[in-house]
Amino acid sequence: MGRGVLLRYRDFLPVTSATPLVTLGEGDTPLVRSGSLERELGCGELYFKLEGCNPTGSFKDRGMVVAVAKAVESGSSSVICASTGNTSASAAAYGSRFGLGVTVIVPKGKIALGKLAQAITYGAKIITIEDNFDQALHIVRTLVQKYPITLVNSINPHRIEGQKTAAFEIVDDLGDAPDYLFIPVGNAGNITAYWKGFVEYRQASRASRTPKMMGFQAEGAAPIVKGRIVKKPKTLATAIRIGNPASWHGAVAARDQSGGIIDCTTDDEILAAYKLMASKEGIFGEPASAASLAGLIKMVGQGLRLAGKRVVCIITGTGLKDPQVSLRHVEPIPQLPADLNVIEQTLGWN
Ligand code: F0G
Repeated sequence: MGRGVLLRYRDFLPVTSATPLVTLGEGDTPLVRSGSLERELGCGELYFKLEGCNPTGSFKDRGMVVAVAKAVESGSSSVICASTGNTSASAAAYGSRFGLGVTVIVPKGKIALGKLAQAITYGAKIITIEDNFDQALHIVRTLVQKYPITLVNSINPHRIEGQKTAAFEIVDDLGDAPDYLFIPVGNAGNITAYWKGFVEYRQASRASRTPKMMGFQAEGAAPIVKGRIVKKPKTLATAIRIGNPASWHGAVAARDQSGGIIDCTTDDEILAAYKLMASKEGIFGEPASAASLAGLIKMVGQGLRLAGKRVVCIITGTGLKDPQVSLRHVEPIPQLPADLNVIEQTLGWN
């Protein structure tokens, strides 16, 4: 507990005697069995992997700790990333922890408030651009050609290495791989990483099989589903508002090798799953995270039979990151005087 992924999974990671084993306590996140949705959806067993319980509130910390440790090991003094928010928060946290300079480039107005607050408070240098994530990543790729600075987006293979540890944890917790893994897809690094983790664990005989990988994009940002770059991606799930995923090929390989799918869900389906997960299971994930449950609901609606099957949904980040989505979609909240009678009447309790 709290050892961090570098120490816990060092045998599966690019850890050398020179790698600093620093941690903020990432990994070891809860795998929580569903209270009621499992029955409603007819799954044998349904679990949620709560990646929002990582130190900066998203799965990015697993990969960032490895990428930043390797940057330090190689003598780098600064890191840079493009981000829809979570990568920048994680880079900023681990960069400050390791004493590195951190620069982040994010799309203006399209990053959730909590994520921006994190990057600011951890002390990153922040640039916002009047364009989307894909363009920010293009700029970052160009900058690292010109300056001695380490790129820590998931095209840095150390990020994928760290993120695959979530698959290890699922197998360690369940005793084997599940039948199905539902996961949101944005830049596609995470689905690539999970697949790598499941394959490596099977090769190491820690698991007897691998799951079908079920990736879900948002309908307005679904380049892999459409088979072409989306120039102007649109979705309220800003974390996955990406039109040209860097790990496109990794995602397609995970889908094809596992016998899974990559599909999309509408913003309305994402929002419904976001509310359902909170109101039925007590799990507050961010909108992008709800794409995994929205995808599961969609598949069951289309006739996927999951009786007797073990299903895991990855909840990639905490809902606290993006409170504005929640507040925008609620009924008006009553504002009353501090009067017991009025409160009782409004609650319908008298
Ligand atoms: N869920 C959340 C909460 C995310 O922040 C992201 C990606 C994804 C899912 C999709 O993962 O990109 O590996 O397919 N966020 C990136 C960022 C792009 O910059 O924070 P992916």
